[in-house]
This record gives sequence, C-alpha cells and structure tokens, in this order.
Amino acid sequence: ACGKKEEAAPAAAASAADAPPARVYVVGTDAAYAPFESQNEKGEIVGFDIDVVSAVAQKAGIQVKFVNTPWEGMFNTVAQGDRDLLVSAITITDERKQTMDFSAPYFDAQQLIAVKEDSKVAKFEDLKTLKVGVQTGTTGDEVVTKLIGKESTAIKRFESTPLALKELESGGVDAVVADNGVVIHYVANNAGSKFKTVSDTSFTPEQYGIVVKKGNAELLEKINKGLADIKADGTYDKIYTSWFGA
Ligand code: ARG
Repeated sequence: ACGKKEEAAPAAAASAADAPPARVYVVGTDAAYAPFESQNEKGEIVGFDIDVVSAVAQKAGIQVKFVNTPWEGMFNTVAQGDRDLLVSAITITDERKQTMDFSAPYFDAQQLIAVKEDSKVAKFEDLKTLKVGVQTGTTGDEVVTKLIGKESTAIKRFESTPLALKELESGGVDAVVADNGVVIHYVANNAGSKFKTVSDTSFTPEQYGIVVKKGNAELLEKINKGLADIKADGTYDKIYTSWFGA
C-alpha cells in the first residue's frame, strides 16, 4: 500500500508532460478551383471554401490546416484517414453519401457551359455531337457522360478544371462543362480567352458540403454547429460578399 502511494505523484507528473499537443485537423482541397480554392502568388491556399472552413473551425474551437490534394483520389484520403476533412466545392450526391458523410449544405451551384464567343452552342443538347472537356469524376463529368456516353472519345477528361479550360482556348475541345461559380470566375478573369457562358435549365441544382470520414459523427457535429453559427451571426454573409459581391 505504501509503495503505491509513492508512485502516484510521478505518474501524474509524467502524464501532464506527455499531454498531446492540440489536435490539428487536416483539410484536403484541390486548390485549382477559384474562387472556391486556389493558390496565390505566395503559394498560400485561399478562397471562399477556405474562409468558410476557417470560420467554422474557429466557432467549433478546432485547429485546421489546408493541404492541397488532387481531386482524383481525394475521397480516398478521407476514407484512409490521411485527411480529416475535405472542402473542395464538393457536390453532395446520393452516390457519394454512401462512402462519406457530408455537412449541411453551404453553397448552391449548378453546371454551366463555357464555349468560345463565336460558338453556336445554345443549349446543353447541342454538345451531343461536339468535343467536351470536363474535370474527371466531377458532377460536370457525370452530366456530360450521361449525354454523350461513357465510352465516347468526344469527352476529354482532365485532372483539373483550368486544364480543361486551357484546352477550350487552344481549340482541343468545343465546350467545357463545370460548376457555374468557377466558369463565371474564369471567363471574367481571362478576357483574352474570348469565352462566353451558356446556361441550360436541364441542369439540376447542386449543393456543396464539407466532407468527413463516414461515421465520424463527432467531427461532423462540430462542423455543422460551426456552420449554423457562422450563418446565424453574419460571418457567412460577409465571406460570401467578399468573394462574390453583394
Ligand atoms: N462540384 C463538382 C463536384 O463535386 C466539382 C468540384 C471540383 N472541385 C475542385 N476543387 N476541383 O463534382
């Protein structure tokens, strides 16, 4: 009994010294999707999504660190535990919900077509007989694949959306289909590309969500609570306006 008592003090001291440092949650993002996520001249990852998750983390009292992560394979990184969260303008879909969990929606989006200014494309159906560029595995890829057919060589798939848009500029494809926010931003900031946008009512509304590993209810709850807080106190609106205007 006597010996036990003596051990107690050193044990407590050791455990205090070994206290783990504050947990930093690693957030994966494909930082080639301005204005949602991109890298600035200093190599820092910036964008609407980054500001939203940073504000959510602050409310939730957690620390986050953003890590540039290629879109292809991104979903696996969270399944395998290499990333704790994903924010990447990721559309919430029923198929994706089977393998990962999504926060409440934080942004409304829709597909939009980019073509050259002199293009005759007037609606989505017109792409049926054309060459179309998409980012592999995006919802843009899904709608175009549905229209043209999976095996069709008329679909050119790229690892990033900017690469698809470069191909449109060089004439390798006749159109690009991607999320409206990104297409609008690109057209506005690359006047030299001489692009215009074509919208189509057949595109279904999409919503972005923040991803956690399937079953990580604890983290998801923190994120959802933080999201609700930033929506309620005006922080979300401020972030929105700073990237998209009033
Ligand atoms: N919203 C689309 C999707 O979920 C495209 C997202 C692409 N995001 C990115 N950062 N590259 O499929």
